[in-house]
Amino acid sequence: MPDRLPLAAGIGLRTPHVRQVLEQRPAVAWFEIHSENYFADGGPSLATLERIRADYPIAMHGVGLSLGSADPLDREHLRKLARLARRIAPAVVSEHLCWSSVDGRHFNDLLPLPYTAEALDHVCSRVHAVQEALGRPILVENVSSYYAFAESSMAEHEFVCAVAARTGCKLLVDVNNIHVNARNHGIAARAYLAAIDPLSVAEIHLAGHDASGPIVIDTHGAPVAPEVWSLYEAAIQRFGRVPTLIEWDTDIPAFAVLEREAAHAQRILAAHDAVAA
Ligand SMILES: [Fe+2]
Repeated sequence: MPDRLPLAAGIGLRTPHVRQVLEQRPAVAWFEIHSENYFADGGPSLATLERIRADYPIAMHGVGLSLGSADPLDREHLRKLARLARRIAPAVVSEHLCWSSVDGRHFNDLLPLPYTAEALDHVCSRVHAVQEALGRPILVENVSSYYAFAESSMAEHEFVCAVAARTGCKLLVDVNNIHVNARNHGIAARAYLAAIDPLSVAEIHLAGHDASGPIVIDTHGAPVAPEVWSLYEAAIQRFGRVPTLIEWDTDIPAFAVLEREAAHAQRILAAHDAVAA
């Protein structure tokens, strides 16, 4: 049976930390994996994940389905995703609200969609198809971006909320991505949060970025910035207690650094409980 994600801080499981997690079984509430790293049909990585899964709830987070692409939905990718979900019985399966392929060519970047009625119809039909293939609702995540389409006829948050309302999927709200887009596109971050139905929020992501250049880059390679912690506090005030993940993907530090970041998130969740009590 899949667990539910605890209403607590979790950590993104990355290769340099797997051995430590296996040997020490640290007191982490849950882990998130990148689904594509475990698509092999067997092998040591999958066996290791199954051992970790025996002790921790797991979230599966996809980075390669290209949910919003105009290319046909990649049925082979979806088949592997469904196979992994059957094996691991994750608490949640999430994907990005983005596109990353065209004419069969894949990019490393998770690119934003045009926020139009046509794109909304398209992406909703794809979310329906994925949910049907997996036999469960998925979570979709708002992405960071460095350009916007002139064709967009609605705000990003309207598009994101409409996908959840029309498909029954839940939202993975990446608070750092909202901050990055607020800085890059002049969006009001707190108004973005205020527009989201708290009942649709199933998970939050926190990560670091690089604000040293002319635009803010979502690096996942630094501690969570003070402005993002403060936006996270506002998010928890609005949404209540939500499972919250620390994501760190480049310049990966010692596991203890991630534990400290998770402890920070945990203190904010606990402070919300104290106020709400
Ligand atoms: Fe994220």
